[in-house]
Formats: sequence, C-alpha cells, structure tokens
Amino acid sequence: MATKAMLTAWIQGQKLKAPQMKNAPVFQRNLEEALDVRRTDHALFTPNISAWKSGEGVDFCSNDILHLGSTGQIRAAFEKELASHPDYNLYSGGVRMLDGNYEYIQQVEREIAEFHNAETALIVNSGFEGNIAIFGAIPRPGDAILYDELVHASTLDGMVHSLTQVKHSFRHNDCDSFREVLATIIDSQRMIRDGTRCILVAVESVYSMDGDVCPLRELVDIAKEVCPKGNVEFIIDEAHGTGVLGPRGAGLVNALGMEKEIAVRLHTCGKGLASTGAAILGSPTVRAALTNFARSVVYTTAPTFPMVAAMRAGYELLRTGATEQAQENIQHLVKRFVTTMRADPIFQKASDMGIVWIPLCEDLEERDFLVHIVAVRTRQRYSYWLAFHLQLLGYCIFPIDHPVVPKGQSRIRLIVHGANTEAQIDGIAKATCEWAHEMVDIETGADSRTKMSKSAQQVYALMAAAAA
Ligand SMILES: Cc1ncc(COP(=O)(O)O)c(C=O)c1O
Repeated sequence: MATKAMLTAWIQGQKLKAPQMKNAPVFQRNLEEALDVRRTDHALFTPNISAWKSGEGVDFCSNDILHLGSTGQIRAAFEKELASHPDYNLYSGGVRMLDGNYEYIQQVEREIAEFHNAETALIVNSGFEGNIAIFGAIPRPGDAILYDELVHASTLDGMVHSLTQVKHSFRHNDCDSFREVLATIIDSQRMIRDGTRCILVAVESVYSMDGDVCPLRELVDIAKEVCPKGNVEFIIDEAHGTGVLGPRGAGLVNALGMEKEIAVRLHTCGKGLASTGAAILGSPTVRAALTNFARSVVYTTAPTFPMVAAMRAGYELLRTGATEQAQENIQHLVKRFVTTMRADPIFQKASDMGIVWIPLCEDLEERDFLVHIVAVRTRQRYSYWLAFHLQLLGYCIFPIDHPVVPKGQSRIRLIVHGANTEAQIDGIAKATCEWAHEMVDIETGADSRTKMSKSAQQVYALMAAAAA
C-alpha cells in the first residue's frame, strides 16, 4: 500500500547518519550532524509522493484546494490558452526591465489588476519571491514594520532584506496586542510620530497553519484611530485566500471592499489556482518601486509565457464562475466536519483532556468565513500518532511540528478541497474520533496493556524492522 511505503521511507529517513560518518569528509559530516538534529525529532523531510497522486489515498493535504488540478480543469484551460497562442516563446529574453518584458505579460497583469479591482499588478515567479520583493523594496529607511507573529517564512525572509531595522511583531490576530505595539512604535519613533515615515503592517488573509482569517477591518480601523496622520499602510499576503474567499475567490480585501485601504496585496497561483506564479497588486508607485528596488525582480529572468499562460487560465476559471461551486462546497464540508466532531462525546472528552482539539470547534459561529484549512491540535508527539492512524486508513495528511510551527504547537492540518465528498469527510471525522477514543482509554488507564496507539505501534514496528 502506498501509505505504508511512504511511512517506511519516512522512517528510514529518520535514522541518524553522522555517527557512522567518522571517516567521511568534514564538509559532509557537518551537514549530516545538522540534519541529525532534525532526525532526532523525527522531523526530517524525506522525498515523498503522496498516495492520493496514485489514487490510493484521499487527498486531505494538497494545495489543490479547488481541485482544478486533479479534475484536469486547469490543464484544459491552459491547453486552450496555448492553442490560441501557437507562436509563443518559451523564453522571456532577460530580466523584466531590460529584455524580459512582452505584451502578453502586460495584458495578463492588466486583467489580474482588473479582476481584483486594483490599480496595477506585477507578475513574479512565485509567492516566495513576491514577499522577498515586497519587503526588500517597499520599506524605506526610517519606516517600521509591524507584523503578525505567524506570518509566512517568505515574509520573515523578505524582512531580512529590508532597509529598515525597526521590526516588531504583535500577537497573532490579536487587536489589543496590535494596538499596544502600534502605540509603542509611535511613541519611540519621532519620524513616525511626526508623519514623515511609515509603519507597514504585514498580515495574511488566511493563516496557513491555523486556518483563521485576519481581522483586517478591525486592524485598519485601529491604525486610523491610533495614527491619524495616515502613515500606517497594510501589506496583505492572500496566498491562501486566493480562489477561496470573496466574490469569485478574489480574496479577503475584495470580500470586505477594502481595495482602497490596502497598499499592497500578494496573490499566489500555486494553491487555489493549481499552477504557479504570483501577482503583487498596488499603485503605479508601488509597482515602480518593486521593478526598481526589489533585487528578486531586478536580477532574475522575467516570468515566461507558459507560467503566465497558466496564471491566465486559472484567473479565467475564477472570472467565469467555474470555481464557485467548489468554493461553496468547502464551506459546507468544513462545517460538516466540525459539527460532527463537536457532537462526539468522546472527542469532547479528549479535547477536555488536552489530547486532541480543534480550535474551530469552539468558535465556529463567530467566524464570518470558513476556509479550507482546519487545524487539529494535539498533545506533543501525538500529531505523529494521529497522522499514522489516518495515513494507514488511506487519508493523506501530514503531522506539522516545529520548526514549521512554534515548539509545543503540534497539529495535523486538514485541507478540505472543493471536490472532497461528504463520505470522505464523515470517514476522516470517524477515524479521528476512533483515535481520540483509543487515546482516552490509554490515558485514563482503561486500556492498561499499552501506552501507545495501535497505529503508532505498527509504525514503530516497521521502524524497528528497518533498523534491523
Ligand atoms: C502565506 C504564504 N505566502 C507565500 C507562500 C509562497 O508561495 P509560493 O508557493 O507561490 O512560493 C506560501 C506558500 O506556502 C504561503 O503559504
């Protein structure tokens, strides 16, 4: 079975290597020693082909949120796009501001800007590159960056390249913390207080490990109140909102009608749109700053026709409403999963005991939008055991642990797709409750034969066999 093969490969990957490398070149040994730190936590990433790709598992992990990839919709739209440009060039010819520009990319940028009701769009090769560009180019010396503590690694990396040293975080999605840190920055930075420099606030529409939505309206209102000089500007990463939130999946900013209040938006195509590439939205001034100051734009080959054509194909599916059914289905399926879990008394007991819990179970009714990401939090290490249990039943999900999330915040991350079925949702809910039941029995001593779930025993037996 594919999941068993995947688990076996993963287990083998966690075996320490450096101790057997005493005679190897120091270069290799030092690298393996660093990798062994990951292996010690069973956290080394190993090459893996998910079982859903061969139809042997149910996809609850991929970023193909709207199922445009697995249903072939994006490929069909892409092939149509290629067919209508039979003379396309595979190369762009150089960096964007020298030889790499071409009419087609400019046209697609205009269309993307229009779709999101933005002034301009700039296409870049990926969302990661987009965040590196934004944070490298937009903050000027003397500006301050204020960011949600859970922003993506690419935003954090981008900030490393920014020209400002003033960087502060606020507690995740916490308006009080935002207000407090904002006030501290204003108090301590004269040029911000007198309105000659800016505070740039970095947030995401949907946080990728927690599946919660940014309280954007509230944050913008607080910024206007605390800093009436109007020098607080927002940068939002809509990677996980694209295709999922708002009218025809245009994102959170469009859903809230806040297009004029947000300085920079990043939309990526590797998730909802099942392709690759990203677009940065902003004013002509923002665009000019990016194309002149962002090293990841200035010093790289401009996006090529095939990528831009795939982006256009994805946007065409959004624009024509072809993805709306999937968008609605995600809302329905997530609600079904959460209400099923909430109704299960054993799951409730496991939650009360801190074995496994779903934050969304507690505040489902308070959320304006449901999104495709459901964080199933567990006691430390149990994320692996729950993942083993689900994987062995053919549900493709991954345990998430440090360094992807802060230490002590283990979880599995369920990604619900537009084409998952009610039966699949009911199946994974039942399987999760079964595991919760088993763990409650183990922890309360009702099952005194073991301290470990059956699936964990099975996987660790495989591990022992691999070591033998
Ligand atoms: C919030 C966020 N921003 C940016 C990115 C990077 O996007 P891309 O995969 O297009 O590089 C990701 C991808 O994981 C993401 O989750």
